[in-house]
Amino acid sequence: MTVPARIQERADALRELLHHHAHQYYVLDAPELPDAEYDKLFCELQALEEQHPELLTPDSPTQRVGGRVLEGFAKVRHRVPMLSIRTETDIEPSGARNFDARVRRELGLKEGDAPVEYVAELKFDGLALSLRYEGGVLVQAATRGDGEVGEEVTQNIRTVGQIPLRLRDAPAVLEVRGEVFMRRDDFERLNELQREKIAKGAKNEKTFVNPRNAAAGAVRQLDPGIARQRPLSFFAYGWGEIVDGPAFETHHEVLMALKAWGFPVAERIAVARGADDLVAYHQAVGRERDALPYDIDGVVYKVNSLALQKRLGFVTREPRWAVAHKYPAQEQLTTVESIDVYVGRTGKLTPVARLQPVFVGGVTVTNATLHNEDEARRKDVRVGDTVIVRRAGDVIPEVVAVVPDKRPPGSQVFTMPRICPVCGSAAVREEGEADYRCTGGLFCSAQRKHAILHFAQRRALDIEGLGEKLVDQMVEAGVIRTLPDLYRLGLANLVALERMGEKSAQNVLAALGKSKRTTLPRFLYGLGIRHVGESTARDLARHFGNLDAIMEASVERLLEVPDVGPIVAESVHAFFQQPHNREVIEQLRVPNGVQWEEGMPAVQAPKPLAGRTVVLTGTLPTLSREEAKEMLEAAGAKVAGSVSKKTDYVVAGAEAGSKLDKARELGVTVLDEEGLRGLLAG
Ligand code: IVH
Repeated sequence: MTVPARIQERADALRELLHHHAHQYYVLDAPELPDAEYDKLFCELQALEEQHPELLTPDSPTQRVGGRVLEGFAKVRHRVPMLSIRTETDIEPSGARNFDARVRRELGLKEGDAPVEYVAELKFDGLALSLRYEGGVLVQAATRGDGEVGEEVTQNIRTVGQIPLRLRDAPAVLEVRGEVFMRRDDFERLNELQREKIAKGAKNEKTFVNPRNAAAGAVRQLDPGIARQRPLSFFAYGWGEIVDGPAFETHHEVLMALKAWGFPVAERIAVARGADDLVAYHQAVGRERDALPYDIDGVVYKVNSLALQKRLGFVTREPRWAVAHKYPAQEQLTTVESIDVYVGRTGKLTPVARLQPVFVGGVTVTNATLHNEDEARRKDVRVGDTVIVRRAGDVIPEVVAVVPDKRPPGSQVFTMPRICPVCGSAAVREEGEADYRCTGGLFCSAQRKHAILHFAQRRALDIEGLGEKLVDQMVEAGVIRTLPDLYRLGLANLVALERMGEKSAQNVLAALGKSKRTTLPRFLYGLGIRHVGESTARDLARHFGNLDAIMEASVERLLEVPDVGPIVAESVHAFFQQPHNREVIEQLRVPNGVQWEEGMPAVQAPKPLAGRTVVLTGTLPTLSREEAKEMLEAAGAKVAGSVSKKTDYVVAGAEAGSKLDKARELGVTVLDEEGLRGLLAG
């Protein structure tokens, strides 16, 4: 039978495509297609080859289990080949029935015969690994490679804490097969770190597309020093060669033995009897999937009895006794309709891609974060682009890559706006920072709630009773837009709010009235200027003496303040340069408004404790921790959180614990409150 030319051409084209994408995926760890798309092409080719066996070529991607062997690693021939498993194409939970029916047919079972027993497992989305132990000692770790020959990655794998280096009571030779992967939280942290490195100008650094790629990159990292910094995890799910081991009868027994030998085995495995149990397992794990700390792309069913496994045997390189049953993909293709900039409650600007709605990771996604300017540039996401979107777990959806071939002509590079899209104040990016921030902190409506809560907190204006719930309510009801509105509130405004009685309203008004008498450092701190904490606010107040002097100060003048560096000086200057911020301050300082005693700039009195480090521990008889800290800092001391050789004094009160012990151990001077007062008095 000759194959129609059309089909021959399609098969050739598919092979070309699959070769290209397999190289991107396995060798470069830089896939250009979501896995689901790759799988689709792969299945199409597989189907063509099944219908027309003449089409099959030995180098067809379907004839290879895994990727390719990387240059740079020693090659390992697996003594027992590392097999692949067939994927069930019906993605519905009921798809599990196809597998059970096939197994029963191949075993020659009749309708009335007993159900087949299976082990159902998670299908981890990582990299297959074979670990070889001789005399109980890890001697070799290898990747799957093409299933016959893999790469020797022992050095890198030794850095994975979960993999035992030595076993107790293990067989003379034991090969354990399992999946090395990266947990989602570890992946997020790693990418965050990578982004910071890139923002700081590091060359040759990149972020990773997904946890699997990050794990693959770490395992096949030629520099074990770098591999060590990449947090990997491991689950065992199978075995290769075993010499002088116990006689096992079921897959489940082996898993339990692996666990006893010290290997991590996933908790979520189940012995299932018949198709109904498999369907129930698929459904249950599907519901739990998002809550798992790592990615799975499906579940795996395996015939439990090793004798039956043997009877079932293999087709090419896939066992008949196992199948992978997948879930909807966590990566999909879609297009970018626009790129908007979102302003967070702290003023951070985040570019967000608005997407053609797409069903991914179990929900319809319409937005995906681009994180920041550098990330958007690095990925070069543009309006009109076709992109890979990822949503896994409850992590916010993300654009992981652009499909370069599908870019429409005439597209424009994305640039971050230099003004806040919400309030029009300047948006600035500080040196060494990845993010742009709106400088209209007091005025910007995106930052309203945050600014009000910051202003009202105990260490700032100390407005008792003005908590998150009330602020939410007032902002949402439109009663408060900016800080000065707080002091324009009347009883009627408050009583109109839900669940606000007259008594509580009176209390809030009283607290507001009381808060008007404050101090310059508290007021300054309350403004929420970036990088101005309580201690910087005190330094500024002490140095300049009054608010107007601070508002008018140039960056140079600000730099004269002890402990104020360029980042803080720039930030203070930029804040007061914004007309909107000045306007808010003027409205707060009206007659009968917020007031404090302004003084002359403090003559730089010598600080008795300059350069000294003090640690506070336990409860002092009359001073609160805050007060003691304030007094110490005013005297020039640095108040530290833990005791070390560099600590000069430890001030200990009642129920002091380990810090006091540590101080005694290191011979650091220990003082009580009285001793502290003596010290402050010089
Ligand atoms: S069993 C003979 N069990 O899925 C069966 N594989 O093609 C050999 N995988 O890349 C595999 N979780 O690394 C098996 N619980 C599990 C698995 C699992 C993930 C991966 C495996 C391989 C692919 C199977």
